[in-house]
Amino acid sequence: MFHSFNKPLVAVLLGASLALLRLPAVAADAAPVDQATIEANRKANAACYECHSAAAVKKPPRADLDLSKLKESHIEPAIFNPSDHGVMDCRQCHAKNHYTEYPHAEAGKTTTSPCTECHAAKSLRLEPQFNASVHAKNSGLKEKFSCNTCHNVHVNVIQKRLKDPEKIVAQDNHGCLECHNSETMFARFAPDDEKLAGGKKKRPDIDTIHGWLPNAKAHWNAVRCIECHTPEVAEGKMLSHEILNKEKAEKKCLACHSANSSLKTRLYRHLVKGEQQKYGFTNSVILSNSYVIGATRHPLLDNLIIGLVLATLLGVLAHGVLRALAAMKRNKDQAK
Ligand code: HEC
Ligand code: HEC
Ligand code: HEC
Ligand code: HEC
Ligand code: HEC
Ligand code: HEC
Ligand code: HEC
Repeated sequence: MFHSFNKPLVAVLLGASLALLRLPAVAADAAPVDQATIEANRKANAACYECHSAAAVKKPPRADLDLSKLKESHIEPAIFNPSDHGVMDCRQCHAKNHYTEYPHAEAGKTTTSPCTECHAAKSLRLEPQFNASVHAKNSGLKEKFSCNTCHNVHVNVIQKRLKDPEKIVAQDNHGCLECHNSETMFARFAPDDEKLAGGKKKRPDIDTIHGWLPNAKAHWNAVRCIECHTPEVAEGKMLSHEILNKEKAEKKCLACHSANSSLKTRLYRHLVKGEQQKYGFTNSVILSNSYVIGATRHPLLDNLIIGLVLATLLGVLAHGVLRALAAMKRNKDQAK
């Protein structure tokens, strides 16, 4: 009797104190969304898909739609729903009053909510790193670069939920390669080249820059650019958003190819130990036990190993010669 009377009271008090604790909303981050809200949001989004979907582009619901623009900007429920933001109503980011009518109100784009509005805590930590990165520090790029330059909010899924390293690598590298592997995209962001009148800085070829990395293409499928281009992270901490320049980037093979691989706190940080092993690390094997000259066609390593073999041979030879000389001397001494 006593218990059943107090339970709701306790709940109310607890709820109130929790609400109080949550009050400093400045430092808060997006809270999980409950199932009922998710369903309501998805129902509401159907109104947008009437035009913003591949099906609508094929069969427009009305005649006055700018189809060329719609083609570029269709959002698919099958991709949006499982994404990080798939739990939301489109209008939480796209101002409600601007998109209920078509043609949409002019102010639409400028009223898209910035990340900070809902991710205050994480933004607070990430922004100084972002500001220190090569892109932001490089004059002229700061204005062009924003959070959604790399983050496709309609598509991306956080690493913790993706889990599979291959998918994480594909998603995160896509964000970088979209520019670094495309002349048109790179030129849109590149600063002017002082040496070329009116010209933009040329895009360095990604595979050529990383020529020192054996089978660079295999690495692009197995590790992320940010693995080498962001500073060290402590276990359990978020990866830094400070993209490092070429002088500071990681070049040591053993940073990854060792039992103590840095990938454990990066790409593999959400995998348990057994899973980490399954995905190939400790891959030091490649560099120690099972390295076969020529098999991986890496001149630097090959030369190193050929060098080691030669040195060993020389050592054996030298040893042999010394022993022969010593034996001759002994024989001579005995003959005396
Ligand atoms: C009747 C068709 C139609 C509906 C319904 C519709 N849109 Fe659009 N929307 C378009 C077309 C066509 C464009 C591209 C051309 C333009 O901006 O006029 C567009 C452009 C946009 C843009 C880009 C705006 C910009 O300034 O570049 C956003 C954002 C957008 N819509 C969001 C929404 C949201 C959110 C909903 C649902 C609440 C919605 N739309 C419903 C047809 C529609
Ligand atoms: C978490 C916030 C967020 C949610 C939720 C969201 N959007 Fe967006 N959307 C953005 C941002 C930010 C941009 C601007 C992207 C850019 O400028 O590169 C954008 C751009 C757009 C555009 C312009 C074309 C493009 O792809 O850049 C359309 C159309 C659009 N959104 C429609 C939708 C629809 C439809 C939904 C719901 C199914 C939706 N958005 C949900 C943040 C959001
Ligand atoms: C209007 C609010 C809103 C805006 C604006 C917004 N988000 Fe989110 N974001 C959310 C919600 C809600 C979730 C889902 C939380 C959950 O399911 O637990 C989320 C989840 C995420 C996640 C997944 C994990 C996490 O940290 O919770 C990332 C990453 C993310 N958002 C990045 C961004 C980026 C980058 C921008 C700006 C381009 C942005 N968001 C803008 C509301 C927002
Ligand atoms: C140069 C590309 C780039 C830019 C610009 C960028 N991000 Fe990211 N962001 C990434 C990548 C790649 C990841 C995945 C790294 C990881 O797994 O932690 C990420 C991860 C995140 C996460 C998830 C972190 C976690 O583990 O919970 C958040 C939140 C986020 N970014 C927010 C932002 C905000 C806010 C901005 C703007 C101030 C921003 N990002 C700008 C590339 C970028
Ligand atoms: C929107 C286009 C765009 C995206 C996305 C992008 N970059 Fe860049 N990045 C550039 C441009 C343009 C430059 C050239 C700046 C210069 O030459 O002054 C650059 C410069 C760099 C540099 C500096 C090289 C040096 O001079 O030392 C590095 C490193 C780099 N980017 C890595 C990355 C990584 C890693 C990612 C993904 C997390 C990424 N970039 C995403 C456009 C982009
Ligand atoms: C294994 C570590 C590693 C990975 C993975 C990696 N990089 Fe690098 N990157 C480096 C190092 C080290 C340099 C400096 C090379 C030099 O100076 O010879 C560099 C140089 C660069 C430069 C400088 C170009 C120039 O000369 O101006 C850019 C841009 C760049 N990387 C982008 C990327 C992108 C994009 C990815 C992902 C596809 C990536 N990197 C993946 C280590 C890495
Ligand atoms: C950022 C982490 C990282 C760094 C730094 C790195 N690697 Fe790798 N490397 C990997 C991963 C992950 C794989 C894929 C492992 C697998 O498939 O099991 C790989 C694969 C390889 C392979 C096999 C490629 C193939 O053909 O399949 C060789 C050889 C290799 N690395 C050598 C090197 C050498 C030499 C260096 C230094 C110059 C280096 N790696 C630096 C992470 C790294």
